[in-house]
Amino acid sequence: MSLTAHVPPTIFIIFGGTGDLNARKLAPALYHLFLDGWLPEQFALIGTGRTTLSDEEFRGRLLEGINQFSRTGKADAKKWKSFAEHVVYQAADVQDAAAYKEFSQRIQAYQEQWGAPANVLYYLAVAPEFFPIIAENIAKSQLAADADRTRIVIEKPFGHDLESARELNQLLGRRFQEQQIYRIDHYLGKETVQNIMAFRFANALLEPLWNRNYIEHVQISVTEQLGVGERSGYYDGAGALRDMIQNHLLQLLCLVAMEPPINFTADEVRNRKVDVLRAMRRFSPEDVRESTVRGQYGAGWMEGQQVPGYREEPGANPTSNAETFAAVKFFVDNWRWQGVPFYVRTGKRLHRSASLITIQFKDVPHSIFPPETAENWQQNRLIISIQPEMSIRLQVQAKRPGLDLMLNTVDMVFDYQGTYTTATPEAYETLLLDAMLGDQTLFMRGDQVEAAWDLVMPILTAWQGRASQSFPNYSADSWGPEVAEALIARDGFHWFTLPLSHGKH
Ligand code: BG6
Repeated sequence: MSLTAHVPPTIFIIFGGTGDLNARKLAPALYHLFLDGWLPEQFALIGTGRTTLSDEEFRGRLLEGINQFSRTGKADAKKWKSFAEHVVYQAADVQDAAAYKEFSQRIQAYQEQWGAPANVLYYLAVAPEFFPIIAENIAKSQLAADADRTRIVIEKPFGHDLESARELNQLLGRRFQEQQIYRIDHYLGKETVQNIMAFRFANALLEPLWNRNYIEHVQISVTEQLGVGERSGYYDGAGALRDMIQNHLLQLLCLVAMEPPINFTADEVRNRKVDVLRAMRRFSPEDVRESTVRGQYGAGWMEGQQVPGYREEPGANPTSNAETFAAVKFFVDNWRWQGVPFYVRTGKRLHRSASLITIQFKDVPHSIFPPETAENWQQNRLIISIQPEMSIRLQVQAKRPGLDLMLNTVDMVFDYQGTYTTATPEAYETLLLDAMLGDQTLFMRGDQVEAAWDLVMPILTAWQGRASQSFPNYSADSWGPEVAEALIARDGFHWFTLPLSHGKH
């Protein structure tokens, strides 16, 4: 998303350096930025964690992560060696102020060595209970005094509810300026997600149709085959609404529903997105009963493998009430969208992994064709497929070739694979580069996070107050609980999926 391409001398300090996120996502992303020539010669990556490790041992761990998780497979020995020269490790107890003195000395040393002031990014890839203490210690040690040169990057979850998100915002706000705070929602870094804005606002033909006059309803569906696995320690206290809807799915919804920003700057874009969240209809307890559905997966078979139910996952609470599936019908109460339902759903252990945004247009005002000419009449649909297929397809009716008049649905498709030969960067590559360049467009602003929490709070409260009697209510490899079908069927619609040939990787 970067408009400028010059990363100044940068020191990247990763808290939680020995953790999973670094091995799986951050290190591979930084390594690719290095390979693609985005990182300056004056770049240092300092990993930090509680474990005592030598620089070499730490590099070895990162290499393992890269070899296993990089989008281009195993690292090239020579290129890895040059990257590894930029990597060091410092064991630290993040609660201990003394550790930050060492960071300060290292920063000084790099600046002297480089003969130039450096930007410093503090990346908090740690459990959320450590966010406050690390942020406080960075600030107290004067490590973020220069607001133009220092940034703090915060991973999700940003708060557990509205109150805790507010507290965290206030704490950060006392110590940092908003321009220094980079709240991650990794969906915003996905190539196809970034393209929603390009598609909407770089093409004149969509805007006249993009409203309640022509659009009947919108669906946003992020289904995953993966189960919760080893993550139930975190997931049990979260659930699908917090884990996916409050952040990723609502952000997708904002991109679909936002008004055109006046320009492509971070604050203009984020102003228009937060407008959507503010315009969304709040839920009364009765709305929660009528417009939301939750589910939890039971055991089953997925692709020939027997898989446990959520309550039998390692470490899970055997009577857990955490939802692994959630579907919600939202409304955006403004001129553009009044009366247009936005159905969102997400869940784990579902039949297929696919993230789709579907815009269903209204039917033609009057059909001139006799009903028998329509094979499977379908209103126009625009389907933005985020993953695994990366495409945008417009489904229209067309005459089938032949002497008789028969209409059927055909797809006009833009698919990345067929259109571009360049490799698609991972979301984290985009986000880390933007953070280094100081571009906040793809990061969550404090008010956005709070507006999203504010919207989901009545649902969370109602669900917490009333344990589900039916869990587990869907089996692995299904499309979720039947009540989720009913939620949308009541309005005369059904959840869309792409045919397998499109949806399967
Ligand atoms: C994370 C959630 O934020 O997003 C996970 O915590 C989820 O539960 C993941 O699996 C999905 O991300 P992606 O990029 O695989 O669609």
